[in-house]
Amino acid sequence: MRVVIQDNYDKMSKWAAEYIAKKINEHKEDRPFVLGLPTGSSPIGVYRNLIEMNKEGKVSFANVVTFNMDEYLGLPHEHDQSYWYFMHDNFFDHLVDMKPENINILNGMTDDPEAECARYEAKIASYGGIDLFMGGIGVDGHLAFNEPYTSLSSRTGVRNLTTDTRIVNSRFFGNDPEKVPAQALSVGIGTVTDSKEVLVLISGHNKARALAATVEGGVSQKWTCSALQMHNGAIIACDEEACGELMVDTYKYFLDIERKERL
Ligand code: GLP
Repeated sequence: MRVVIQDNYDKMSKWAAEYIAKKINEHKEDRPFVLGLPTGSSPIGVYRNLIEMNKEGKVSFANVVTFNMDEYLGLPHEHDQSYWYFMHDNFFDHLVDMKPENINILNGMTDDPEAECARYEAKIASYGGIDLFMGGIGVDGHLAFNEPYTSLSSRTGVRNLTTDTRIVNSRFFGNDPEKVPAQALSVGIGTVTDSKEVLVLISGHNKARALAATVEGGVSQKWTCSALQMHNGAIIACDEEACGELMVDTYKYFLDIERKERL
């Protein structure tokens, strides 16, 4: 696992955006580059950087197919807290060459959630899998909406949200946890770890425990993000604030190893 520690959120975002752009630009296969994407406050800086690079002609999305991690069950596209709305508002609508037909987001208004999830997995497979899945994590270490104790081999499916997650996410719903949908559709941990590369953004003091569990804890379904330890292409991009619970030697190790790689 690589852990790339940057001074602050802005530098973390710039680093991650440049990494993703490099991977898209290097992609020479005779099929689209398949990119997995998250919502939340963590990726907003990456999206801003990618939009700027796209407008400057530094990266094209013309040959990129995207799959989002998750969607609330029961929120229509036009609801300003649906992840469909978030992704268009914060990213897709600002790209100059993203093809709408290449955007994939789980349909939270489906009347057959299981069929919708099976369709999503099949569509990912039809492209030959995901090249790079960018993610964020919750304060309890949930990756997508895979709450603690979700199987580390789970696939796309319906997830019940914990009260904790509904309270944390209520900041977007007028601070009322009851307004946060109780269920979501989400890719599974197995869906994410099947990707060739996984890049997870971890920023801020409130994620410090989760970062330590991801990097230093044992692999455990209690912290679903810890599954990344078993992935051969996992990168954590984080900021200094998120490093507060790492052991000093862990912190020094990653600064050391990443510095050598940059030289
Ligand atoms: C939600 C999303 C996750 C996201 C998490 C953290 O629960 N389902 O995919 O990673 O929030 O969000 P934030 O980046 O705002 O802290």
